[in-house]
Amino acid sequence: MKKTALLLGATGLIGSNCLNYLLADDSYKLVKVITRRSLKRTHPKLKEYIIDFNQLEKPNVVFSCEDVFCCLGTTIKKAGSEENFRLVDFEYPLQTASLSLAAGAKQYLLVSSIGSDKNSRNFYLRVKGEVEDAISKLNFNSFLIFRPSLLLGARNEIRFAEKIGGAAAKILSPLFLGGLKKYKPIEAKDVAKAMVVLANQNQTGIKIIISDEIKKKTDE
Ligand SMILES: NC(=O)c1ccc[n+]([C@@H]2O[C@H](COP(=O)([O-])OP(=O)(O)OC[C@H]3O[C@@H](n4cnc5c(N)ncnc54)[C@H](OP(=O)(O)O)[C@@H]3O)[C@@H](O)[C@H]2O)c1
Repeated sequence: MKKTALLLGATGLIGSNCLNYLLADDSYKLVKVITRRSLKRTHPKLKEYIIDFNQLEKPNVVFSCEDVFCCLGTTIKKAGSEENFRLVDFEYPLQTASLSLAAGAKQYLLVSSIGSDKNSRNFYLRVKGEVEDAISKLNFNSFLIFRPSLLLGARNEIRFAEKIGGAAAKILSPLFLGGLKKYKPIEAKDVAKAMVVLANQNQTGIKIIISDEIKKKTDE
């Protein structure tokens, strides 16, 4: 039976790639996108819902699906405060998880980050760890956590720290060996592909896929 996917963050670097893979994948008959701004794209399988993410809990039917792909995220700089960052990286993923589960979703696939840890002293990594932990307590058939390292790929905006980090990491790439392998930067499209590949494998339980394992999953 063909599935319905629900995608969050479809305008972003991983999310836009995820959308392409989902639309091209025959296992999905419908791809619902919840977004705050239009993708300005049409496709027979694509249904776009433009909403205010602070009103996610308003009753409607958009959450019914089999698989949820959460590629939401921001930076503290973009969000303007730690509180706003937490909304995007913790509250919205958790709320969409609860609402989609209640609407019958079976799988939730979350893009988190390498180093995520609910006990971390680093705010970003702590929030990522906390959202993983909170969604782990919900009863999905499978909850897949992707923890990429620095993302590579063409962005519409300029993020200097990431650009410098990406350039430096490319030069230093041969040095990411042994225990450092997991820190090697990864193409955003590979993260997106691995998400769609794993979603089609009927996984069960909670699985964490660390950056260096993500690329391997794209070949499965
Ligand atoms: N960048 C890295 O190197 C890196 C490394 C490891 C992990 N990660 C994590 O990977 C995930 C995806 O990263 P990415 O670089 O693909 O993200 P991105 O390009 O910044 O895209 C983020 C998505 O979240 C949406 N979003 C942000 N704020 C929102 C808000 N207030 N309300 C509704 N939607 C909002 C964006 O929508 P708009 O387009 O409307 O803003 C966009 O669709 C994030 O969780 C990030 O923390 C990133």
